[in-house]
Order: sequence, then C-alpha cells, then structure tokens
Amino acid sequence: MKLVLAPMEGLIDAPMRDLLGRIGGYDYAVCEFIRVTEQRLPRRTLLRLCPELASNGHTASGLAVIPQLLGSHPASMARTARQLAELGAAGIDLNFGCPSKTVNRKDGGAILLREPERIHAIVAAVRQAVPADIPVSAKIRLGYEDTALALDNAHAVVQGGAQGLTVHARTKVDGYHAPARWEWLARIRQAVDLPIIANGDIRSVADYWRCREISGCEDIMIGRAAVGCPDLARQIRQSQQGGEQGVMAWPVLAMLVVQMGDELKSAMLERHLASRLKQWLVLLRQFYPEAQQCFERCRPLRLYSEMRPCLIQGSFE
Ligand SMILES: Cc1cc2nc3c(=O)[nH]c(=O)nc-3n(C[C@H](O)[C@H](O)[C@H](O)COP(=O)(O)O)c2cc1C
Repeated sequence: MKLVLAPMEGLIDAPMRDLLGRIGGYDYAVCEFIRVTEQRLPRRTLLRLCPELASNGHTASGLAVIPQLLGSHPASMARTARQLAELGAAGIDLNFGCPSKTVNRKDGGAILLREPERIHAIVAAVRQAVPADIPVSAKIRLGYEDTALALDNAHAVVQGGAQGLTVHARTKVDGYHAPARWEWLARIRQAVDLPIIANGDIRSVADYWRCREISGCEDIMIGRAAVGCPDLARQIRQSQQGGEQGVMAWPVLAMLVVQMGDELKSAMLERHLASRLKQWLVLLRQFYPEAQQCFERCRPLRLYSEMRPCLIQGSFE
C-alpha cells in the first residue's frame, strides 16, 4: 500500500518535498522531470535538478526521492539514467504524460503515447543501461487524444522491462480536468502483470478508498492535493490503520507557509518567493477557506516581506 508523492514541475520542488516528508505519510517522492536531449547533461545540472541525489537520495526529513527523465531519444535517455545511477539514484522514473505544448512539440511527454513502440524502445534502453537492482518505472496517461492505445502503452512499458507503472487516469486532451477515469485503471491492472500506481483526483481519504475500490490498485500517487492538503497522506495512513483522522489546523499550516518563506528568503528573489507562496495559497484555498482570505490580502503584494505579516495574521484565524 504505497503512497507516492507526485512530481510537479514548479509546485513540488526540493523544499516542498522536504516539508511534506516532515509531515509524513509518503513512502517516496518522484522528482520533477529532467529534460533529456541529445546533449549530455553535466553532473552539476543533474544535482541541481534533483538536489536530493547529493544526500543519498533523501530529503533532510528522510523522504526517498527518485529522479524522473523526460525525452524521446533512447540512447540519450539511457546515458542519463546511467549517470543518475552513478550518482546513487534508487530508481529511475520515465515521463510519458507531460501535456505541455512545448514539450510535446519537441517530441517529449504525452506525445509518445501515440507510438507504443517508441515507449517500449525507451524503457528497454533505460532498463539495459542501469544495474538490475535499480528499478525502472514509467508514468503514462490513458492516451493522447483518446484511450485507444491505453493497453498497448501499458504493455509497452511492461515488455520494455519496467518494474513499476504509474497511470494518470486522463488523456492528454483531458488535461487536468476532473473526473479522472479510475475505471480505466482497473482495465489496465487486469491486462498487465505489474502492480499499477493509481493517479488522478485523489483529494481526500474518501477518494483514496473509492479509487481503490474502483481501480483495485493498492498503491496511489497524489499530485495537487498533496500541496493543497499537506497532511493528506498522513490522514490516509491513519485511516488505513483504522485510526481517527487528525486534520492539520489552518493556523499550523499558515505557520508552515511562513516557515517555508523564511527558509527560501536567502535562496530566491523576494518577488519570486511571493508569487510562489501565492501559488501555494491558491491550492490551499481549495481545502481551507481561511487560505482564501489570506490569498486575497496577499494578492496585491509583490514582496515576501510585505506578505509575511498577512501570513502571520492568517495563522491566528
Ligand atoms: C503544475 C504541474 C506540474 C507537473 N509536473 C509533472 C512532472 O514534472 N512530471 C510528471 O510526471 N507529472 C507532472 N505533473 C502531473 C502530476 O504528477 C499528476 O500526474 C497530475 O497532477 C494528476 O494528479 P492529481 O490529480 O493528484 O493532481 C504535473 C502537474 C501539474 C499540475
């Protein structure tokens, strides 16, 4: 019953993984994608993109982190996977789900779901490139325009030799719109001989149990709700053990936002930090009405130093 923290470019980075690891509940996290082209990536770039590699593949809070590659050239993907293995990566995940126009135009992410044979070639090349004790996994969507190739793509991943498969239960065209099609996860699970990690729209403990029931998948990955409801994995763990679900109170969470701001202050420009924390408030407000009020007060402010008193005020609401 694995709970996996999703990769989310621009939303879940190393400091956020560390924070969510401190709150607890997740078994491991997948890092935001590393874009692979034919040009070799220097070691320092790989360490910048997945900083946890420098600390034995774990956040300071002890959460294991696995790097993810996005690209379409099998030999380059294999070479980068080997570099990551040499840096101590505990696994390699491959991204076949990114819907970004820019990424798809450059032949990466979800566009490959139109060609299962290419997915097979990439998985097989990466599998061969890294030692057998390093698991290779892939993350797919149900398809590009439609679900016609969903099973073919899942088979391509398995036959390529992967040990893990995460399925985001939407097509590329579905984008991120609800509802995720959990019933498709059951079809894929029945068709392949590999445990599937279910992903898409798991936003509460009730969703977790409903997704398990519909999909039959024991393992799940949480994306946006991990940021909007930072103790969701912990709540799910408590519910798995039949315990009472303690939900994190808003004042505690507001102080975590301040703590994150204070920690990042020296590492980024104040205005970048302000927009980043606002982005977090946007997700938090889906779960906490207090975050909406806090967001409204922070919205016109450009600098973190201006926002900080509003966040502190928020922690008393
Ligand atoms: C802003 C954003 C960035 C994302 N970045 C990645 C990424 O780097 N790699 C990846 O495999 N998926 C990425 N995803 C997809 C998520 O990991 C996840 O599959 C998706 O949000 C569905 O799960 P959810 O409904 O729980 O959010 C991203 C999604 C969003 C919204």
